[in-house]
Amino acid sequence: MDDAQSGPAASSRGLEGIEEEARTRIAAADTPQALAEVRAAFLGRKGSLAAVLRGIGKRPPEERAHVGQRANEVRDRIEARVAQRRTELEQETLAGRLAERALDVTLPGAGRPRGRLHPVTRVARDVEAFFVSRGFAIEDGPEVETEYNNFDALNLPPDHPARDMQDTFWVDGDHVLRTHTSPVQIRAMSGRQPPFRFIAPGRVYRHDISPRHSPMFQQVEGFAVDTHTSFADLKGVLYDFARHLMGERVDLRFRASYFPFTEPSAEMDFECLLCNAAGCRTCSQTGWIEWGGCGMIHPEVLRNCGIDPDVHQGFAFGMGLERAAMLRHGLPQIRLLYEGDVRVLEQL
Ligand code: PHE
Repeated sequence: MDDAQSGPAASSRGLEGIEEEARTRIAAADTPQALAEVRAAFLGRKGSLAAVLRGIGKRPPEERAHVGQRANEVRDRIEARVAQRRTELEQETLAGRLAERALDVTLPGAGRPRGRLHPVTRVARDVEAFFVSRGFAIEDGPEVETEYNNFDALNLPPDHPARDMQDTFWVDGDHVLRTHTSPVQIRAMSGRQPPFRFIAPGRVYRHDISPRHSPMFQQVEGFAVDTHTSFADLKGVLYDFARHLMGERVDLRFRASYFPFTEPSAEMDFECLLCNAAGCRTCSQTGWIEWGGCGMIHPEVLRNCGIDPDVHQGFAFGMGLERAAMLRHGLPQIRLLYEGDVRVLEQL
């Protein structure tokens, strides 16, 4: 190098120049690799400083110590700058990586979709809670039922025209998909002596499809047998039940009807709350919605279960649960409950 050979002043300027240039290039190095190259260019064995040091031997002895010391100082400062820049680069890399994976804690959460009970299941649980609080026990029965329990024992012999009321799915010669929950009466009463009261919620099946009918629907059966059970008890329980389910204001209507397993029998309607009984599409402009059947248990049915009808009487009722769910949610069609469309069910 020229300056290494041209006296102390030039020599210092040379070192200053080297340091100045190193400072600029270190600051400009924007990757650890670039920085390593810059370092090698100045501090490496073939770097600028080494060249200055190699030239020292050609200097007058009185200058050597001075230039050597200055070169060492410059080397230390460059080394320190390289180290500082390395730290900076590391921090930049880290900051960049952190920014890439940045978490915005103010964003709304992704939220896990939560399941919930089907609206008819909620009605069923509500019904169960009500009757359990009134001292009724919950009784269960199979959905594939014997012809005997579903029909014969309920006073519906094979040739009885009332069998036509319930379009039946037959499983084989003497088993059916139960057409109502009334066979649970037979199961629960056989081998038991009154007093007792039960409810039996569950699925039933009929060959019947319309906006208000589905081939599978759910009923709750209720029955109580004691020594002085009357139709007034039945009405009291049903009013209480309707008000629990649909609110204090709801009115009930009983219409004389016929079921082979009750005598006397009635069909009950509740006031249409969607139109305040003024008449709308849901209640077919009548102001009333059919709810179910009821009556005093027929003496023949009690006898079929080994209970003496001269000592005990009982009442029974059976109603659809979907109707209550539809009314609660203002649903126009029963099939909306069973299509499994989450967009509908989510709203209920
Ligand atoms: N089982 C009847 C039906 O499904 C309803 C009913 C139950 C009627 C109990 C009277 C007594 O239509």
